Amino acid sequence: MSQLEALETVPGLAAYLGELEARLARAVERRPGLAAGVSAEVLAAGGKRLRPLLCFLVSDPNEPPSVPAAVAVELVHMATLVHDDLVDGARIRRGAPAAWSVFGAEAALGAGDYLFSCAFAELASTGDANAVATLAEASLALARGEAMQRLQVRKPETTVDAYLERCALKTGKLFEAACLLGSGGNRELGAYGLALGIAFQIADDILDCAGESEDTGKIPGTDLREGTPTLPLLLAAEQDEVVRAALAGGPLDGALVRVAATDALPRSREAALDYAAKARAHLVSGAHREELEALTYAVVDRVR
Ligand code: IPE
Ligand code: IPE
Ligand code: MG
Ligand code: MG
Repeated sequence: MSQLEALETVPGLAAYLGELEARLARAVERRPGLAAGVSAEVLAAGGKRLRPLLCFLVSDPNEPPSVPAAVAVELVHMATLVHDDLVDGARIRRGAPAAWSVFGAEAALGAGDYLFSCAFAELASTGDANAVATLAEASLALARGEAMQRLQVRKPETTVDAYLERCALKTGKLFEAACLLGSGGNRELGAYGLALGIAFQIADDILDCAGESEDTGKIPGTDLREGTPTLPLLLAAEQDEVVRAALAGGPLDGALVRVAATDALPRSREAALDYAAKARAHLVSGAHREELEALTYAVVDRVR
């Protein structure tokens, strides 16, 4: 993500992210055992650390940015990825074998639960009950979003509105929480995060159809194989019976190529850009206005 990499030069960010890594490692070492060991491996595989970046960028320039907030949000994110890969049958994550495929389903379940618990322990240690409530709301939304996704599986008749609601729940709400926690509860920045997260998820769903493993660190085509009705797949299914049948659980042969032959990918990109613009509309002049604005472009135009 070249635009994202350009953001790395923001003063103070490198030190903040350095402290984040150290505290993430300490947070998962809290209770030694299999779950902690699996979690340490997940942590070591890296990731873009986009949600911590948000915590930093939205923070009040007159106060030190909160590291526990970023640690907690990233731990919730990691927990959901560990569970998500198990549910999605996704074998590769961040360019490495997914936790469940190395350690088994039970260990992955346990590690995900452990990571959730570590997240709340970290945030609770700040004594900020509002922050804990915000993260709890986002976690609940995530669980609802994933449950909603299960109900939509192999249903090409899923509406775009239902898809967008799922994106808001499973991805947008955690971006919103990152912005709320980082800014001390600024509602406009929270709304920025929610819209940004939806744009980010639409872009992720495009990458699942058209991305390169080398860049994304994931195997493309997972959504179609699992029958997950994402925006590009829904739009393509409206135009192509083979794609529609594949999304409903039929043969997959050539279906992804047919998705690319429709206008579903550019139309999905337009939808992502619309949400990015919605996010921008919530920004006012402030310390990192330019970087937050740049991020709205970077989450859509990314390869990883
Ligand atoms: C992946 O999130 C899950 C989605 C919400 C699409 P990221 O793309 O932020 O994952 P990492 O942390 O960089 O690996
Ligand atoms: C995002 O959905 C996962 C969560 C928000 C829990 P995906 O299933 O599309 O994420 P990836 O593609 O596996 O990273
Ligand atoms: Mg997945
Ligand atoms: Mg995906």
